[in-house]
Amino acid sequence: MFRQTALLALALLPFSLAQVSEDFENGWDQTAWPIYAPDCNSGGVVTLDNTTAHSGTNSMKVAGAGGYCGHIFFGTTSIPSGDVYVRAYVKATTALTASHVSFITMPDSAQGTNKHLRIGGQSEILMYNRESDDATLPDLSPDGIATSTALPTSVFECFEYYLGTDGTIETWLNNSTIAGLDSGPGITNANDAGWTSSTIIPNITAVYFGWESYGGDVNTFWYDDIVVSSSRIGC
Ligand SMILES: *[C@@H]1O[C@H](CO)[C@@H](O)[C@H](O)[C@H]1NC(C)=O
Ligand SMILES: *[C@@H]1O[C@H](CO)[C@@H](O)[C@H](O)[C@H]1NC(C)=O
Ligand SMILES: *[C@@H]1O[C@H](CO)[C@@H](O)[C@H](O)[C@H]1NC(C)=O
Ligand SMILES: *[C@@H]1O[C@H](CO)[C@@H](O)[C@H](O)[C@H]1NC(C)=O
Repeated sequence: MFRQTALLALALLPFSLAQVSEDFENGWDQTAWPIYAPDCNSGGVVTLDNTTAHSGTNSMKVAGAGGYCGHIFFGTTSIPSGDVYVRAYVKATTALTASHVSFITMPDSAQGTNKHLRIGGQSEILMYNRESDDATLPDLSPDGIATSTALPTSVFECFEYYLGTDGTIETWLNNSTIAGLDSGPGITNANDAGWTSSTIIPNITAVYFGWESYGGDVNTFWYDDIVVSSSRIGC
């Protein structure tokens, strides 16, 4: 019933607007939302969970194991061409630590084959990481770290970001801009030197939600009410 309503609502939107909108109330469609764990997968588990949700009763649970091969993600390849906005409600069990982790990973053809634009944590704050040169946004200096924020735990947080065709990146947590995670033409960020040292403009082919750690951190995340669109979604 809800899916039909959602499809009708989508059909009424301008063609380019909403690419994907999923609340998982009708279950986990593994064709539309496949598992993603390139190279290896030992330990990470994705399940549909009806014990916690942002809306309704269902969400997607990712029990991520430690180490790179403990990684696992699920996601969508329905990405608009041009500007991309992604909004998801995200609940973490454990706070971000000093170690590098990712909870969103996006294959990025601009970086090359099997290279990813990643969103995750390091130095206890949210950040982007570009796999090909390991650059971070923000720079992980004390000043850079201070321009980002921790990811609260045990609560569904509204997390949204924008990837523009001109290289702009903007990021919001609970509808508030995270200054350190914004970069691009027209944006002044004193802590994006590492990021802007490359001319790569992300050109993602998919968005995957899950867990990947490089130092051994373990975490369980839930994801709900995911929207991928070519315009701002909001909370
Ligand atoms: C919730 O999920 C459990 C385990 O998958 C299942 O056995 C149960 O029937 C589900 N409950 C509802 C209300 O769908
Ligand atoms: C979101 O922000 C509002 C207003 O600043 C605050 O009251 C609320 O607790 C925040 N919610 C979460 C989930 O962080
Ligand atoms: C989110 O932020 C925008 C811009 O600051 C504001 O216009 C909008 O009302 C906010 N929405 C919510 C739900 O707080
Ligand atoms: C982005 O990648 C797609 C293929 O996935 C390609 O068609 C398009 O030309 C690329 N865009 C840019 C700006 O390179």
